Amino acid sequence: MASDKDAKAAMAADLLAGLTAMPKTISSRWLYDRRGSHLFEQITDLEEYYPTRTELGIFDDHAEEMAAALGPDVVLVEYGAGALVKTRLLLDALTRPRAYVPIDISGPFLRDAAGALQAEYPALEVHPVVADFTRPVDLSDVPGARGERVGFFPGSTIGNLENSEITAFFRAARTSLGPRAKFLLGVDLKKDPAILVPAYDDAQGVTAAFNLNLLERFNRELEAGFEIEAFAHEARWNADESRIEMHLAVLRDTTAQIDGQSIYFTKGETIRTEISRKFELDALDRLLAPTDWTRSATWQDENGYFALVLLN
Ligand code: AVI
Repeated sequence: MASDKDAKAAMAADLLAGLTAMPKTISSRWLYDRRGSHLFEQITDLEEYYPTRTELGIFDDHAEEMAAALGPDVVLVEYGAGALVKTRLLLDALTRPRAYVPIDISGPFLRDAAGALQAEYPALEVHPVVADFTRPVDLSDVPGARGERVGFFPGSTIGNLENSEITAFFRAARTSLGPRAKFLLGVDLKKDPAILVPAYDDAQGVTAAFNLNLLERFNRELEAGFEIEAFAHEARWNADESRIEMHLAVLRDTTAQIDGQSIYFTKGETIRTEISRKFELDALDRLLAPTDWTRSATWQDENGYFALVLLN
């Protein structure tokens, strides 16, 4: 178990690497401290943020078909433990699910989610696993996890990863879940930037607060001394890469200190803090080609905004 000191050192090293690169970046993984997770929950309820309610609508309309395609007696292995509403919809539709195995790097968050679900489904075996799911996770010791496994990764969180990370994720998932496993994946689809940009730059400023909380977090945890007013949230559509990018734009020259090192920010430059890919299904197929997962079924909403895809 890494100590608090080790965790802070790892955070500082990662931050320093991103901020000394050209152009500057900050890894989106640091968005989710307690406040950031709370702000993200608020984002999912915003009028402009269509993905969550659209994905839920697809579950409402197609959960029975998904359950039929996944088969009976499965062990549901969820990557990340934030989407209990969707988990419930899927569990309710599945025939005799054997066990629910949520995997998350954050122990306290995972235990809360697993405890809540166990209370609602007393007959279901619930086995939280604290692990970094970008690497293979050994599930052989998890009691109940000997049935057919189904990987579950809703919310289009896959879209926050780079190509190489996506390939590594699916290779690791195959190793963890086994050769006969299936996978249900949520992906946000490419659409008009007039819909996409407001979804990441809402009128109430919740997404701006979510993005700026990164700097506040580094001030709290690393005493980095970021001048928050010198930065502004920006959401950009990058058409070449088919992705929304969150940036922090530098409004005036300013500095911060990380691990005793001064970092200089110049007015006009930006720090990229997140990518959120918007997929086309054939591009997704190409991305999956080097892994041994293949798309075998697709469920979408009537506007074609979001898709749940079955992989074999
Ligand atoms: C978690 N993830 C799928 C969200 C997204 O839409 O990419 C994170 C987010 N960033 C800003 N708003 C929401």
